[in-house]
Amino acid sequence: MAIQKIDHPMIDFGLQSKESGKQINEANKYLPGGVTANIKYFEPYPLVMDKGEGARLRDVDGNWYVDYLMGFGSLALGHGNKQVIQAINDQFLKNGTLLFGTPHQLEIEFAKKIQQIYPSMEKMRYTNSGTEATQLAIRLAQVFTGKKRIAKFEGHYHGGYKEMLYSINPPLTESGDEETPNPVPESAGVEVDGSEPIILPFNHLNGVEKLLQKHYKELAAVVIEPIQAGFIEAEQEFMDKLRELTERYHVLLIYDEVKTGFRSALGGAQSIYQVTPDITTLGKVIGAGFPIGLVGGRREILEVSSPKRGTDVFEAGSQGNGSAKDVLFHSGTYNGHPTILAAGLATIVELERSFEQILLYTNELRSGIEKIGRKAGLPLKTYGVGSIFNVVCNQETNLRHYRDLQKTNTKLRKQLDFELMKQGIYTKPLNRYSISSAHGKAELLITLNAYEKACHHLKGGAGVS
Ligand SMILES: Cc1ncc(COP(=O)(O)O)c(C=O)c1O
Repeated sequence: MAIQKIDHPMIDFGLQSKESGKQINEANKYLPGGVTANIKYFEPYPLVMDKGEGARLRDVDGNWYVDYLMGFGSLALGHGNKQVIQAINDQFLKNGTLLFGTPHQLEIEFAKKIQQIYPSMEKMRYTNSGTEATQLAIRLAQVFTGKKRIAKFEGHYHGGYKEMLYSINPPLTESGDEETPNPVPESAGVEVDGSEPIILPFNHLNGVEKLLQKHYKELAAVVIEPIQAGFIEAEQEFMDKLRELTERYHVLLIYDEVKTGFRSALGGAQSIYQVTPDITTLGKVIGAGFPIGLVGGRREILEVSSPKRGTDVFEAGSQGNGSAKDVLFHSGTYNGHPTILAAGLATIVELERSFEQILLYTNELRSGIEKIGRKAGLPLKTYGVGSIFNVVCNQETNLRHYRDLQKTNTKLRKQLDFELMKQGIYTKPLNRYSISSAHGKAELLITLNAYEKACHHLKGGAGVS
């Protein structure tokens, strides 16, 4: 095999994506980096899309792609799903408004549906994003336990805010011992000053036990992505023991299922591990492409946000029975937005029908990719659960946590991503693959065909280490 090192794995986008380049330059005059969220950025410039249809996306140069980003996993039914569009129209026609600013029936209907599928969510509150959901979960845990600090796992992401922007993708040179990782700031303005989260090692019982034993008196909660980054599974024993330890030390267990909810399984990772967390956060899929978040959990925990407990900043509570400090104030003009709940409910109902079909597609795609990799002599392995997975370039037999991921060949993976993009397959470089009910036989064939070509190209020209 010809081995040729390529330092910059990006393709020359020039011909194929001239208009995208132009528009990103224009955007850069108004938006830092030309983007509205850092996650949308990649080098040399991100593609600008202008149309979605089913499982496909079209860029501003007129190139069509089979889309595996699916709005970072949000679009479980693909782009422009008919039932979702119908639900949006029906909501407006029936209700005559996009926003009541008052309680309304869909808030109850949606909550009932969620509770059927996620029985651990005895009571819940709507938010406007996954970020807001995990923020609220943390505040609930702090108020309920009377403790301040939070523990999170190395390599796990819970949204873009100061308290949790630590050790998401830290350089191994800074991350310290595997059993007791260092907190590594992941943003300007974030510091290690004693209030940062305790960083726990994923799938590492000894380390977790040691750290909980040491810090439990100050810990309000342990927050976890039960399947790391949506594709690295926790071991069953680890999840069972984590539940046992958090109970023993009176530390709340928060499952952040923003990625895994309705994707790892309809009932999320908690239905797979058969673990009941104290608090769960959901987002992405349940909004059908609209912004949403949801926090639910044990009744007595969620009740700390009930305005019936006292007064609040807007004097909404029962006067005289307590003060503002007796209530965890949670609000938001758009919480429980009727259009979003209608679209989300239609998505959940449709997913209950089509989830098995999505899993079949996912499994066929995963085994097809691995087979093509083997044939081409490239170390492609897929990791994931349910309708999300990732393609990892490594020879390791088992990827268990963040540090294993660091040993994989991300350069080769990026080369593959850009080759695939040239062949009409889109995901953001290095990102997960999220499958929707709109992916069918045609997309499977196109994708595997593109993989054949991309692997053939890389085998001939790329550095494989
Ligand atoms: C596990 C997890 N938690 C929280 C978030 C933040 O959600 P949002 O981007 O909706 O704010 C994300 C987003 O990717 C996530 O994957």
